[in-house]
Amino acid sequence: MNLVHSKDIYNIMRDVLKCLDPRIINHGQRTAYILYSMLRDQNRYEMYELAEFAMTAVFHDIGAFETNMGDETLNYEAKDCMPHSIYGYLFMLYLMPFKDKAKILLHHHTDFSIVSKMDYEYRDIVACLNVAEKADIYYNLLGSRFDMYSFKKHEGTRYSPKALELLFHAQKKYDIFGRIGTDEYLKELDELFSYLIFTNEEKRGALDGLMYCVGFRSEYTMLDVVTCENICSQLAIKLDLSMEDEEALHYAAILHDAGMCAVPRDIIEAPRKLTDEEMIVMRKHVEILDNILRGRFDDKVVDIVYTHHERGNGKGYPRGLNDTQMTRVQKVLQVADTITGLTSRRSYREPKEKPQVIEILKSESASGKLSSEIVRKFINSYDDIMETVQRENKRMLSMYEKLKDNYEAVRKQNGLAGG
Ligand SMILES: [Fe+2]
Ligand SMILES: [Fe+2]
Ligand SMILES: [Fe+2]
Repeated sequence: MNLVHSKDIYNIMRDVLKCLDPRIINHGQRTAYILYSMLRDQNRYEMYELAEFAMTAVFHDIGAFETNMGDETLNYEAKDCMPHSIYGYLFMLYLMPFKDKAKILLHHHTDFSIVSKMDYEYRDIVACLNVAEKADIYYNLLGSRFDMYSFKKHEGTRYSPKALELLFHAQKKYDIFGRIGTDEYLKELDELFSYLIFTNEEKRGALDGLMYCVGFRSEYTMLDVVTCENICSQLAIKLDLSMEDEEALHYAAILHDAGMCAVPRDIIEAPRKLTDEEMIVMRKHVEILDNILRGRFDDKVVDIVYTHHERGNGKGYPRGLNDTQMTRVQKVLQVADTITGLTSRRSYREPKEKPQVIEILKSESASGKLSSEIVRKFINSYDDIMETVQRENKRMLSMYEKLKDNYEAVRKQNGLAGG
């Protein structure tokens, strides 16, 4: 089953992260284009490799989603640039496809004089990325006043002579800064990314990684996604869903609230009932994600996502569908999402206890909001399902903690303490 193409995994990641902070991703895309233009005439790399380097470059500052949250400036590049480099590295190492390229992120701010002595197969790429991303930063800052030849001052020390040569050549041949100014370059990048090839496992891994990134913003959101996904997969077994439905449900469960990236954090975590205006903003997460997924993922997946706040009695959103207009697999996510909301912890309230959860679910199914068949299945296996969920949540949290612990270890190992 091919529910999504590799290139669209990239497109989805890019668009969801853009909702968090468009500047980091726009800078990444321009940097990727500069890097690609520098490397393409070398006859050294296959197209799929160039595509992988370019994707790595788009997300080269991905660690800044952890370190830079809530910061209005893009200080992470200028002041202490190690925290975002380390987080980006760990992030890619644990969660993304092509882990062998993770070190590129770790050293993208390291001077050439150090990189040139490293024993790492991609050190040339590291050196090129360093030049490419600086070129974008200065071009963005200075516009037509940017003189790339000013980089020669640091030739052999901060910047690699070879990388500078490639930059000058690329500008002459492809007018990279001209194209960046007009968004022309996005079409070329788009063509390049059609060479990406991920296995199904890598696709799932990449979306899991995306979920962690979204989780940087709110740990509750991340835990909710894992809880919901696990309830869905348990219900899929109990309901004897087909393999195809099960796979579609898995992707839908991981992604269903990714549109929340575009909703302000104080609304998501408001410890009170939302006002009407806030509710309108909150509800937009469904449409936002639909715009990102539609045409990229198989419709089956997108439709499960799009209906996760619909209810059988017609009182849901965004379309107010009724019971007969929705499929069984779509109703599974509705039930799982409701259970997740009831059983999860918030900064302002404790999770509900089992008897209360059961009472609420029974009443929601009696009023026709939730599928009575699915609610019954869940209640019959309550302990069994929730034990699995607890176990998986613990596993996920310990991985997240490990990522944070490793941060200090990597910092020390690389002699980077103190920034
Ligand atoms: Fe950067
Ligand atoms: Fe950076
Ligand atoms: Fe939602």
